[in-house]
Amino acid sequence: MAEPSDNSTETASESLLLPTGDGVVIDIGTGDGLFVYQSAREQPSRFFIGIDASARPLEKVSEKIYRKPAKGGLPNALFIQAAVEDLPAELDAVADEVHVHFPWGSLLRAVTTGEGLVLGNLRRICSEGALLEVIVGLDPERDRTEIERLCLPALSEALVDSVLIPRYRSAGFEIFERGTLLPDEWPRLHTSWAKRLRGNPNRSLLYLIARAL
Ligand SMILES: C[S@@+](CC[C@H](N)C(=O)[O-])C[C@H]1O[C@@H](n2cnc3c(N)ncnc32)[C@H](O)[C@@H]1O
Repeated sequence: MAEPSDNSTETASESLLLPTGDGVVIDIGTGDGLFVYQSAREQPSRFFIGIDASARPLEKVSEKIYRKPAKGGLPNALFIQAAVEDLPAELDAVADEVHVHFPWGSLLRAVTTGEGLVLGNLRRICSEGALLEVIVGLDPERDRTEIERLCLPALSEALVDSVLIPRYRSAGFEIFERGTLLPDEWPRLHTSWAKRLRGNPNRSLLYLIARAL
C-alpha cells in the first residue's frame, strides 16, 4: 500500500502503488466479476475494480485474483462489496471509466429513472472527463414482474433524450451517445449476463455513454 504523500496534486489512484498507469476502471453491479477479470487480464496497465452489493457472486473471483499469476492471479484487479447507494469515500474521483452492465434491482431503477442520489455517487467516484457506460437489457414480457415492482418506464432512446439527459446532466454527466444494440452485437460484451441473455431476440438492449463534467 501507499506511503503517505505530501504532493497535493497526486490523485487518489496514483497515491496507491498499484498498476494504474493507463487509468482506473470501475464496474458497478459486477456480479461474478467476469468483465473485470477478463479486462484486467487483457489490459495489464489499467486497474479494474468490481463492486457489487451482494458478496456471494464475488466470492470465487475475489479468491482467484490473489493466486499466483500462473494460476490466474491478477495484480490489477480488486473486488469490493458495496451498494451503489453507499460507495466508500476512498473511491472519490478515482475512476477514469465506470461501467454498469445489465443492472437489476435498485441499481436498474436508479440508472433508468435517473435517481439523483445514485447518479451523484457515480459522479463522485469519477475523475473529471471520466466515461460512464450504462447497458440495460430488458425483455418487457419476461421481466414484467421486476419492471412493475420497480415502476420502471418503457425504455427507449426517446426516454433517454427527454428524461435521462437532463437528469444525468443535473448529476454532472453529459450523455453524448445512446442507442440500441442488436442481439448479434452482444458477444463483444464480456459479462456473464450478456452471455446468458443474448439468445433472446425480444430482449432490447439500450446503452448510453456519458462524460463526467
Ligand atoms: C443481472 S446482474 C449483472 C451482473 C454483471 N454486471 C453482468 O453483466 O454479468 C445485476 C447485479 O447488480 C447488482 N446490484 C443490484 N443492485 C445493486 C446496488 N444497489 N448496488 C450494487 N450492486 C447492485 C446485483 O447484486 C447483481 O449482481
